[in-house]
Amino acid sequence: MKKRILTGDNTTGRLHLGHYVGSLENRVKLQHDYETFILLADMHSLAYPKYIGEPGTVADSVIQVTIDNLAVGLDPKISTIFAESTVPEIYELATIFSMLVSHNRALRNPTIKEEIREKSLGDNYSLGYIFFPILQAADILCVKADLVPVGEDQLPHIEQTNEIVRRFNQLYKGEVLKETKGLVGRIKRLVGTDGNVKMTKSLGNCIYLSDSEADVEKKVMNMYTDPKRIHPTDKGTVENNPVFIYLDAFGKEKDRFQIEDFKIRYREGKVGDVEVKKYLIKVLNDFLAPIRKRHKEFEANPGKVKKILEEGTKKARGEAIKTLTAVKNAINMNYFEG
Ligand code: TRP
Repeated sequence: MKKRILTGDNTTGRLHLGHYVGSLENRVKLQHDYETFILLADMHSLAYPKYIGEPGTVADSVIQVTIDNLAVGLDPKISTIFAESTVPEIYELATIFSMLVSHNRALRNPTIKEEIREKSLGDNYSLGYIFFPILQAADILCVKADLVPVGEDQLPHIEQTNEIVRRFNQLYKGEVLKETKGLVGRIKRLVGTDGNVKMTKSLGNCIYLSDSEADVEKKVMNMYTDPKRIHPTDKGTVENNPVFIYLDAFGKEKDRFQIEDFKIRYREGKVGDVEVKKYLIKVLNDFLAPIRKRHKEFEANPGKVKKILEEGTKKARGEAIKTLTAVKNAINMNYFEG
């Protein structure tokens, strides 16, 4: 039997290049070797203050993010794509799991703490916000995933998931649940176009997978480079320079020679930012061209996208029901059978 992957995306906006190198690339590659489940975390997304009371936003985003996944090459014939809210067994599992996690432990999740800081939420976040790593544990465990391709920021949630597994198995004396593993992409964290350590919608520093050629051009031309370099004849720094980070990340084999040549000339003050940026625009648009094409095809066919999600729900739900039944049996919460 094939091992399983489950991973997911929040439905709070379109996916960007950071998502690609962090997780999408691995999903596409591994979908042939693993039975793959992709979850649209629509219930999670309700925890974001902006989305509360904005009907339609999450629903639109579910479709957009599904299309982003399909456009990068997730094949619905072999991979299962579904929305979290359509598998209610996930919430049942999450409620059971929440009994195994101390209040303090939930508050100590570093990624949640960082997000609260980053988004300046102060005390203004919901109970569900703290709960969502537990919901995420239920996402992962409902299909008993072996591997979870994610960005580095998600590793604390994997750790919390495995703590739940160990606690559950210890309390209920069995091997009903099994530990999972995070798989981080080839680039741990992609910098934003503004040089910030992380590409994230809340900082407005993203290049989206569905951006047009003109969007890419504008964003790259405005991109942060080496702040100490004023003239093209000044010696420049390549390390930690977003333009070079993106060239390395998205350049194809045929671009390598040119990229290395730019690096040498940049260090020596023999090439201007504009010339390197123009090349990056070409590299990114080359990379995005086939993704954009598939994007358009699916956008023109929303009925097909909904059908994929409907089929995905059936398959995922079947697995989640099996897991929930095993969990309830283990805790002896199965009153009418046997
Ligand atoms: N929290 C993840 C993120 O911010 C999205 C997500 C939700 C997820 N459920 C998941 C990722 C389950 C992996 C597995 O990107």
